[in-house]
Amino acid sequence: ALADYVHARGLKLGIYGDLGTLTCGGYPGTTLDRVEQDAQTFAEWGVDMLKLDGCYSSAEEQAKGYPAMARALNATGHPIVYSCSWPAYQGGLPPKVNYTVLAEVCNLWRNYDDIQDSWDSVLSILDWFFANQDVLQPAAGPGHWNDPDMLIIGNFGLSYEQSRSQMALWTVMAAPLLMSTDLRTISPSAKEILQNRLMIRINQDPLGIQGRRIVKEKSHIEVFLRPLSQAASALVFFSRRTDMPFLYTTSLAKLHFPEDAVYEVQDVFSGKIISGLKTGDSFSVVINPSGVVMWYLHPMAQPWHGVRQQGPSKGFHPVLL
Ligand SMILES: *[C@@H]1O[C@H](CO)[C@@H](O)[C@H](O)[C@H]1NC(C)=O
Ligand SMILES: *[C@@H]1O[C@H](CO)[C@@H](O)[C@H](O)[C@H]1NC(C)=O
Repeated sequence: ALADYVHARGLKLGIYGDLGTLTCGGYPGTTLDRVEQDAQTFAEWGVDMLKLDGCYSSAEEQAKGYPAMARALNATGHPIVYSCSWPAYQGGLPPKVNYTVLAEVCNLWRNYDDIQDSWDSVLSILDWFFANQDVLQPAAGPGHWNDPDMLIIGNFGLSYEQSRSQMALWTVMAAPLLMSTDLRTISPSAKEILQNRLMIRINQDPLGIQGRRIVKEKSHIEVFLRPLSQAASALVFFSRRTDMPFLYTTSLAKLHFPEDAVYEVQDVFSGKIISGLKTGDSFSVVINPSGVVMWYLHPMAQPWHGVRQQGPSKGFHPVLL
């Protein structure tokens, strides 16, 4: 009945479980001998996603249980997105975590601490994910994602600018966008951030490439880049400053975009379009404290200059640092 109620509202039903005697909250868990029974029960209920936590289970039980649940979910014949807390219990990094194995077993996985309703928490998650991007970035791809935890937009802890920052940075991380907020009371401004169509399109880009931090300035401005399909890309200019809006000047050349290309740029929040931005052109963006400017860029067909010029090659991606 609950599944029908949720599905009738165009939503998906997720359920939380734990691979131990008890869940972290003290409710009954799924012990190893009950994995198949629980998978079958969830499928019969019409559950669309399972998040399987790891409290009260040993590393050995997790190494057996997480792959066993993947097989059991698959065997139900019902598509159930599978979220594993496994790496979070192993410190999130190799050699304890093998991301090749994780990508085969889970659709998404929690690598790090639970998010709390505060900007400090968002920043600590960002810091960890981008400090470890060399390990984490290659692990993500279609059907298998790093999960920096839920969006807290619409709650108490984030300002308007910080809410936009979480949305932009989670999108660049190719994070699964799961909302943790009360849909009955959410504000129009939070709703607008969460329903930004271009943002969601970037997040759901079919190539599924996770973005990286490519610049860390002394001025506390950081730049993030996510390559997208059809030679497009998303750039996020993020300010960690706490004083006032900052005028940041750079060029696509400085961000290692290919020479001699011309781009159409769309501001993901305002929708404003800049046409004909050349790689070598200097440009400036005004970034609010703890805020972002986010761009969607795609190469434009180049004009003729007497000789026939080759357009940017399909499938080209800017050099990643
Ligand atoms: C089970 O796994 C097979 C092989 O990977 C896949 O083709 C199939 O879609 C999966 N079924 C479900 C219900 O997940
Ligand atoms: C990770 O697991 C894969 C598949 O089992 C294996 O081939 C690879 O050697 C492992 N990587 C490390 C670093 O242990």
